[in-house]
Amino acid sequence: MARLIIVSNRVPSSSDRQQPAGGLAVALRDALKQGECLWFGWSGRQIDDADKDNRKAGAEQVRNVAYSTIDLTHSEFDGFYQKYSNGILWPLCHYRAGLMSYSRKDQEVYWEVNQLFARELKKQLRPDDIIWVQDYHLFPLGQALRDLGVTNPIGFFLHIPFPPWSLMKSLPDAEHLMRSMQAYTVMGVQTEDDARNMNDGFVQCNIAQKAQVFPIGIDPDSFVQQAEAGEHDFDVQRLQISLRGRPLIIGVDRLDYSKGLPERFHGYEAFLKRFPEHRGKVMYLQITPVSRGNVEEYRLLKRQLDETAGRINGMYGDFDWTPIRYITQPVPRHLLAGFYRLADAALVTPLRDGMNLVAKEYVAAQDEEDPGVLILSHFAGAAPEMEDALLVNPHDADEIADALHKALTMTQSERQARWGRLKPDVWRVTAQTWARDFMTALAGETHA
Ligand code: G6P
Repeated sequence: MARLIIVSNRVPSSSDRQQPAGGLAVALRDALKQGECLWFGWSGRQIDDADKDNRKAGAEQVRNVAYSTIDLTHSEFDGFYQKYSNGILWPLCHYRAGLMSYSRKDQEVYWEVNQLFARELKKQLRPDDIIWVQDYHLFPLGQALRDLGVTNPIGFFLHIPFPPWSLMKSLPDAEHLMRSMQAYTVMGVQTEDDARNMNDGFVQCNIAQKAQVFPIGIDPDSFVQQAEAGEHDFDVQRLQISLRGRPLIIGVDRLDYSKGLPERFHGYEAFLKRFPEHRGKVMYLQITPVSRGNVEEYRLLKRQLDETAGRINGMYGDFDWTPIRYITQPVPRHLLAGFYRLADAALVTPLRDGMNLVAKEYVAAQDEEDPGVLILSHFAGAAPEMEDALLVNPHDADEIADALHKALTMTQSERQARWGRLKPDVWRVTAQTWARDFMTALAGETHA
């Protein structure tokens, strides 16, 4: 059996290697169960630039999976991760070209780090390995491996959106980047829109490549178990007691401008303003762990959210009521699962999102007798699969306000009916089907 090689910028932490709690480690859990595997990527450590020729390689074997990592220097981390991946590609792929701060220098570092990954990985490759590269940090990795003579099948999956070519080409290096993608045996994206956009780019640049759609999902059965177990968790009960019978609205997002958080707060403010009957009678818990805190746009966003939450709490709060409970610390996943089950409504309102698994987790976590209502942005990759959510345009505060009012006053039978129609898709498109379908396509191309 061929060995599976996963390559991603972030490699699961030690605890996620033992027992995956979230993210890519959960999505790949089944794929990694079969045969021998290698997961290669950045160690999470930065070293001095002067030590670049003495990088320490990390190696750990956990059951059948070998984890192999390399360090990045401070300037590589800055140019490759902070500037090019997260200051240029991230905003651009989320349709926010205006937030992109391009420099040719950072572009060079991005390509150099991809070449470094390729050189280090090549040393560990065997002829029958199958390679699967993950996400925008590593677009050119396939080409860099081919340049070193690697002929193994190489798949690529983009977890974030891909914008229309007319926007993408504002990146000076766009055509070069697109051309490098010819190296991949299979090119996967989340949604039909992403595939249409990327394929149009290939056509415009005269490149013989075609993106295929592989929507990602969650592991619903294990999430249900966590949510059910969560009900009895001390911290989940603490939250429940603090509600004192009031309905709970929940939002869980990394602190990122793609998530539409200021817009969401404005929507909640419009809800309190226009529906005064809910004041003092609902609880909105927004859990937003700080992310990429050294990138300027993220710092500005943090300040904006702190101010907006403070202003709304000052304006509408009472002696015994805080309108928004806003938390920027991470909360463990098993607690989140319990919180979702408790919540009467979830606000998942990104301005643009590759898929958004919180939407799927929220649906999975509900109790069938008394399910909560999902309020979902049209611009989440999950929206086409989840038309029985209350779909909103996140730019329209009044639409969010109306959806909140509707969710909190909806009859139990309508909630059950909507949830009953949402649930099958969460079980149909899962982490397992995503990885299986991608691997099948890669194996098919390889033997074709
Ligand atoms: C998104 C990206 C991932 C990334 C994650 C966390 O989900 O698609 O590739 O790992 O955000 O971001 P970070 O910058 O902390 O790795």
